[in-house]
Amino acid sequence: MSDVLKTFRIGEVEIDFPVLLAPLAGYSDLPFRQVCRKLGAPFCATEMMLDRCLLVKPRKPQYISRTDDEDHPIAGQIVGNEPATMAAAAELMDRRGFDVIDLNFACPVRKALRRRRGGHIMSDPQLAIDITRAVITAAPNRPVTLKLRRAFYESDDTHDAFWRIAEGAFDAGAAAICVHGRSVEARYSGPSDWDFLASVKQRFAEKTIVGSGDVMNAPAAMDMFDQTGVDAVSVARGGLGNPWFFRQWCDLRAGRDMYIPTLAEQKEVILDHFRRTVEFYGERRGVKNMRKFGIKYASMHPTPKKLRMAFVAGKDASDWLAVLDNFYS
Ligand SMILES: Cc1cc2nc3c(=O)[nH]c(=O)nc-3n(C[C@H](O)[C@H](O)[C@H](O)COP(=O)(O)O)c2cc1C
Repeated sequence: MSDVLKTFRIGEVEIDFPVLLAPLAGYSDLPFRQVCRKLGAPFCATEMMLDRCLLVKPRKPQYISRTDDEDHPIAGQIVGNEPATMAAAAELMDRRGFDVIDLNFACPVRKALRRRRGGHIMSDPQLAIDITRAVITAAPNRPVTLKLRRAFYESDDTHDAFWRIAEGAFDAGAAAICVHGRSVEARYSGPSDWDFLASVKQRFAEKTIVGSGDVMNAPAAMDMFDQTGVDAVSVARGGLGNPWFFRQWCDLRAGRDMYIPTLAEQKEVILDHFRRTVEFYGERRGVKNMRKFGIKYASMHPTPKKLRMAFVAGKDASDWLAVLDNFYS
């Protein structure tokens, strides 16, 4: 990478440049991470993994926690609500070689909130700090990071809970926090509050702050750096259907025109993603899984609606390959 790209660190973990693939439930599995890494992603995260599930069969990793020798540096994200169970899961992740352990205190999905985990923890700062301390003690050699939202309640303009959790986590030795500028209550509605991200960076000038929310394309990532001063940005929905995102950001950062993949290259990458996914999950599950990725890839195609419908209609691998041939030749 050119020297205009600043190396970035989370604790002792060195990362080529500060644009990170976010945890994405249902998407950021090993095949998708492999595709992103081939196209330049310097750091990826798993989707959130329930602490108790990880501990059920510690020797037989489930699909969501599988990784390989090339899939580094990587953050394994865990979710749960008991310090001891989260600590046991973190210890397991340490043994399995995850470079960073990330704690999900941000998930706004109803099921997570009902079970008092994910975003629910934003409403209980002491529990957030207790979990963070327990995890840092259990995995002292791995940087521990937190995924937070700006608040639990949409009306919370003081952000008291946020500040308490962030202060407590850094005091406990957390290596970084990733801040999504929406409240848990807002889920994905309304804009991510980038002014809040700027205030977090101002308050913790010496700490590592990662920004999240509304980084839908590489120019938006450039804007987030400029407007907030965060140390890194986390790419979520903007990377779905566009694994070229990382390369595009590097282009802009280096003052070049942003790379736009040709249809032929899109086909090659989608095919590679498809083959990896089918190999990983088997044909049935793999084809089903690729449907949602196909819908995302379609947005770059000149006839996205037709292509989306064709991807959704595909029942088996041969249907899928035929759609690729028809639309990308
Ligand atoms: C489908 C989907 C799944 C997500 N899964 C996770 C997850 O497992 N863990 C997590 O911390 N955030 C998760 N997020 C939140 C993203 O990491 C990110 O913070 C959020 O989408 C805001 O960024 P964006 O507006 O640039 O997409 C998910 C988001 C989406 C859309």
